[in-house]
Amino acid sequence: MNPPLIVGLSLASTWLSGSAWRRADSLVERHHDVDLYVELAQRAERARLDFVFRPDTVYLDPSSQAQGPGTSALDPTLLLACVARATRHIGVVTTLSTSFQEPFHIARTLESLQVISGGRAAWNLVTGLEGQGNFGHRPFLDAGARYQQAEESLQVVQALLGSYPADALQLDREGGLYANAQAIHPIHHQGTHFQVHGPLTLPAGRFGRVPIFQAGASEDGRAFAARHADAVFAAAPTLDAARDLRTALRQLAVQAGRSAEAVRVLPGLSLYLAPTRDEAQALFEQAHEHLGRPQRLAKLSSILGIAVDGLPADRRLTPEDFPVAAQPVRSRTHAELLRRRIASDRPTLDALLALPEVVSSAHWQVVGTSTDAVEHILAWQAADAIDGFVALPGGSLASLDLFLDEAVPCLRSAGCLRTAYTGSHLFGPLQDV
Ligand SMILES: Cc1cc2nc3c(=O)[nH]c(=O)nc-3n(C[C@H](O)[C@H](O)[C@H](O)COP(=O)(O)O)c2cc1C
Repeated sequence: MNPPLIVGLSLASTWLSGSAWRRADSLVERHHDVDLYVELAQRAERARLDFVFRPDTVYLDPSSQAQGPGTSALDPTLLLACVARATRHIGVVTTLSTSFQEPFHIARTLESLQVISGGRAAWNLVTGLEGQGNFGHRPFLDAGARYQQAEESLQVVQALLGSYPADALQLDREGGLYANAQAIHPIHHQGTHFQVHGPLTLPAGRFGRVPIFQAGASEDGRAFAARHADAVFAAAPTLDAARDLRTALRQLAVQAGRSAEAVRVLPGLSLYLAPTRDEAQALFEQAHEHLGRPQRLAKLSSILGIAVDGLPADRRLTPEDFPVAAQPVRSRTHAELLRRRIASDRPTLDALLALPEVVSSAHWQVVGTSTDAVEHILAWQAADAIDGFVALPGGSLASLDLFLDEAVPCLRSAGCLRTAYTGSHLFGPLQDV
């Protein structure tokens, strides 16, 4: 029998994406209202999900704001600290970038969230997509070198978390000994990217290790995840893509001296749900109605990093129609997934421009009823393609309602989800291995 799926809910307002924020019931006025996210996290906890997740980007294109909230967002860790204080069991996964944030800040922020949540924090470790203009002191390296920098950052973060062990605290009033100073030590890190003296300014480790999430799935990203990640937030538009990624990560984890089960593959699952399939399709189309042909071609060009004018509209397209970009692309993972889809589907230009990978994201997508969502999830689990998923409700908040109120209970009846929280410091399933 399969272990329970590990299920998270994204607290990025995916239900506002595209044109969906314009719906009367979108609650767009509350996009920066922390109470909204607290309420959603409390609902996710009542549904006994494993975690809530907040991705993060640190750049904003002013012109994008005319069309919707885009990358504008509250700081993820501050938001999740509020969530943590209003919940008891659910994990809180925050995003911190090794390209833009100093390891000292990362270590202190993570341990603070771990203490504030009583042991429910996890780190979504990203190497960033854009935003270097906001962090002028350091060059933005290419994607491969950013993973080397991430490797060093993680090493420093871990050293800092060990530099003031929680059990150094003595609190001996009579003897006048607050902490055992010998147990607290600088780390004297002198590396390629970071020079950090240490120690950390707070005792760490009382609530256990902070699990690590990772997302990039290039060769470098997979190797990094195999060595360090407890979970991969994967972009996997097809069952085959998810299964291949999971198989590869399990093999790489073993080669790295870990168990195959140590790295869980949790694809993002974009859900456009409605009571009927026709209504769900209408919801999806409504959310993307702002994207005319020129905008879709521009998105295609930006994902692949090449000019796409002049593609033939009267025949199926092949990989040869898309030369590999000479310049680094924004996300190798996204570009590679789209190329893979072109090779397998050989779509016409119209079909290509309608793909979720082009119009919205490279995530797994269900446009249908909550029963359709359950069937997809069961099929992917049965095919050994996933260890769980991160729900990304789209189109409207009703998608989120149907996921929590209908799909989750159905999955639980099917025996795929945990029945209760166990232990006092969850993120149990990820901390246990
Ligand atoms: C599914 C997915 C989600 C990501 N989420 C974030 C994010 O929230 N913030 C961020 O700065 N970068 C994010 N990234 C970027 C990655 O951290 C990484 O920098 C980028 O994908 C380049 O690595 P790659 O070459 O392995 O794809 C994400 C990437 C993927 C594939």
